[in-house]
Amino acid sequence: MNTFEYRDGSLFAEGVALSAVAQRFGTPTYVYSRAHIEAQYRAYADALAGTPHLVCFAVKANSNLGVLNVLARLGAGFDIVSRGELERVLAAGGSADKIVFSGVGKTRDDMRRALEVGVHCFNVESIDELERLQQVAAELGKTAAISLRVNPDVDAGTHPYISTGLKENKFGIAIADAEAVYARAAALPNLNVVGVDCHIGSQLTSLPPFLDALDRLLALVDRLAEQGIRIRHLDLGGGLGVQYRDEQPPLAGDYIKAVRQRIEGRELALVFEPGRFIVANGGVLLTRVEYLKHTEHKDFAIVDAAMNDLIRPALYQAWMEVVPVQPRDGASRQYDIVGPICETGDFLAKERDLSLAEGDLLAVRSAGAYGFVMSSNYNTRGRAAEVMVDGDQVFEVRRRETLDELFAGESRLPE
Ligand code: LLP
Repeated sequence: MNTFEYRDGSLFAEGVALSAVAQRFGTPTYVYSRAHIEAQYRAYADALAGTPHLVCFAVKANSNLGVLNVLARLGAGFDIVSRGELERVLAAGGSADKIVFSGVGKTRDDMRRALEVGVHCFNVESIDELERLQQVAAELGKTAAISLRVNPDVDAGTHPYISTGLKENKFGIAIADAEAVYARAAALPNLNVVGVDCHIGSQLTSLPPFLDALDRLLALVDRLAEQGIRIRHLDLGGGLGVQYRDEQPPLAGDYIKAVRQRIEGRELALVFEPGRFIVANGGVLLTRVEYLKHTEHKDFAIVDAAMNDLIRPALYQAWMEVVPVQPRDGASRQYDIVGPICETGDFLAKERDLSLAEGDLLAVRSAGAYGFVMSSNYNTRGRAAEVMVDGDQVFEVRRRETLDELFAGESRLPE
């Protein structure tokens, strides 16, 4: 589904012209489409109808309260990795009992709060975490529902920084060790073993790695059953890719159909943790051309968004589509789209054929996931505004950060 389209020569988000958004809220601004986010969530939820399931949006992909609220209203669950994300979900109207808590470094404080509010499940990543969770739960007189995140050792075939299911990665418990760790978990009085979890990587563009991982998990579920440990749910993580350029990722419906076929006849609920799939193509980063700089070797478009706003191109050499909001006629040139930050790595895109003039608006597409959430204040730049379009309405879901806010928590030394 594409909710960002040209109408009469101007790029719109649903019923709203992006030029109007820039005029009202300034630039750089992240613009999200409610309709897109809802449609993507439904692609998962509808394909799961008739089987017990939870679609837990991976909050790390986009943690804006407006985005979380849209999903909470649809009944979504959430996958979190910190106390901060937990509080965001609650503030956005999400239900604690639909939260799964992932992450390799949960602190005692994280665990206490999650037990207090009653999360659905902890995805435990190591034996030491298991022992710590037992201790914290016992102190509170609570029982913690747990899955072990197992590392099935499959190659997700994605960028090494976002591949997580190989044995050399820091994530999860090696599948060969999992039975022993489950036996330990089952013996701990304040833990309740409910599931098996894995997440093998992000931006996967084919099904076989998902299904290989699933087969290994199912074999583990059978071995555990022989030990008398009954698994009630499988959490297959996130990772379904989206189209940034010419990738052809599987459809969510086909992925889920294949999973359902493999678990047929078993009493297993399904949990998924999609992040990128739900929001990536539901957002653009709107930016304005400050200068065009023509050198002997290159043409640069210097824009008002930078690597601090969107770090994916600099960090992963990610290719993001950049399009003019109001395309103009005239000869195009090949531009590098760069920001004002003092680093050669500060680029949003390279070698793009565009016809541009100073003051033009550009939209960096597919920026709804891992965009704003990875932004920083490098070069003392305030973070961008975020707005949500809903039909022909626009809501500011995060105002632009002011300079005062940037150093409000800092102080000079005493005189
Ligand atoms: N569950 C777990 C345990 C995860 O670690 C992740 C992502 C997800 C779910 C969601 O995965 P998704 O459906 O979004 O692929 N910053 C990188 C992506 C890092 C992903 C980290 N883990 C990027 O911009 O490409």
